[in-house]
Amino acid sequence: MAGNQQPEVNIGLVGHVDHGKTTLVQALSGSWTDQHSEEMKRGISIRLGYADATFRYCDGADEPECYTVEEECPDGSESEPLRTVSFVDAPGHETLMATMLSGASLMDGAVLVVSANEPVPQPQTEEHLMALDIIGIDNIVIAQNKVDLVSGDQARENYEEIQEFVEGTVAEDAPVVPVSAGQEVNLDLLIQAIEEEIPTPDRDPEADPRMHVARSFDINKPGTTATDLAGGVLGGSLVQGELEVGDDLEIRPGREVEEGGQTEYVPIQTSIRSLQAGGKSAETVTPGGLLGVGTGLDPALTKGDALAGRLAGPPGSLPPTWEEFTMDVDLLERVVGAESGETVDEISTGEPLMMTVGTATTVGAVTSAREGECEVNLKRPVAAEPGAKIAINRRIGARWRLIGLGTLKE
Ligand code: GTP
Repeated sequence: MAGNQQPEVNIGLVGHVDHGKTTLVQALSGSWTDQHSEEMKRGISIRLGYADATFRYCDGADEPECYTVEEECPDGSESEPLRTVSFVDAPGHETLMATMLSGASLMDGAVLVVSANEPVPQPQTEEHLMALDIIGIDNIVIAQNKVDLVSGDQARENYEEIQEFVEGTVAEDAPVVPVSAGQEVNLDLLIQAIEEEIPTPDRDPEADPRMHVARSFDINKPGTTATDLAGGVLGGSLVQGELEVGDDLEIRPGREVEEGGQTEYVPIQTSIRSLQAGGKSAETVTPGGLLGVGTGLDPALTKGDALAGRLAGPPGSLPPTWEEFTMDVDLLERVVGAESGETVDEISTGEPLMMTVGTATTVGAVTSAREGECEVNLKRPVAAEPGAKIAINRRIGARWRLIGLGTLKE
């Protein structure tokens, strides 16, 4: 069935808490979501906030009514599938910023959801937009949600506040689409805007496959005997290349090994025993959407997200593992997402930072800070390409706040 094809692009849903991200995903993903097998469903799709939707087109209907997620057009004919997208629903609560940042590395574009019945910007509206800017996500659509709760005048005023707020940011030219996720109003306009603004990236099928591991599981029920034990499962997204059942897989940084009082990380080698994508098992998978990769690993190794934040790919193809690194630093002028909006001080030697690199989040201590550059010693190593973007967070008050962009140096 067309509604089941593998998603080809990941679209983030970002914005302040309760502005309606989850409601919007539900409204757009219709009835085709969550067709994972029972284990995958319990383990992955719900907790990661992924949902797939097939955008469809009604030939003969005018714009924007021709855009739909329904299989049947208003005139009774069958709609044509355009493409299947995967929504990555980021949590809007301020304490979950690290989750939002690690999700951002999987987004090819984003819908910024802004509630029409609150002043603009709310703290995480601003912080999430800044995160998109830092990570380099510039295909953005703004959904002005909950227009059912405000008068026409209030909606216009709020629309102008949004325009003013995005001026000079990465979302400056993003279309602002008034919608009601709750009442399912203007979803056709929103689909049209997403189709126009967030294209499927060009992918090189010959590139070495590279998977960002966002979660990992032991899917065995307690008490399963050793002979029936299923291998460890990785959940995440492929950002390039293709994976096939039977392929060898390396995971970096691997697992922590203690030897003679020294801790080091040893890459893990395994092979792919099964693949799940777009809600079904598959022999091969391509980038886009959430993947479940069944491996030959001891499930004790993958239990409870133990391998989250790792990279997986063919043996020998993965970038190096860093226990310490030097990064170029580009600080924000002021702290966003906080009421106070204080200025961002220079990074100083000795201070702890939280950094998101790909889907990995790690804390490190600054061992040397110069203007525009610093060295950090990581508590947990990360695998990353030189040039990788790093979201830098500093502890301010009770939480980590985004303060700038780092670029990993050779
Ligand atoms: P987090 O994931 O916690 O960041 O929240 P969220 O942005 O996903 O918000 P969610 O979709 O959970 O919606 C928050 C509340 O707003 C719920 O009670 C929804 O029913 C309500 N809501 C969402 N969209 C609309 C809308 O268009 N109109 C109205 N009236 N209510 C809405």
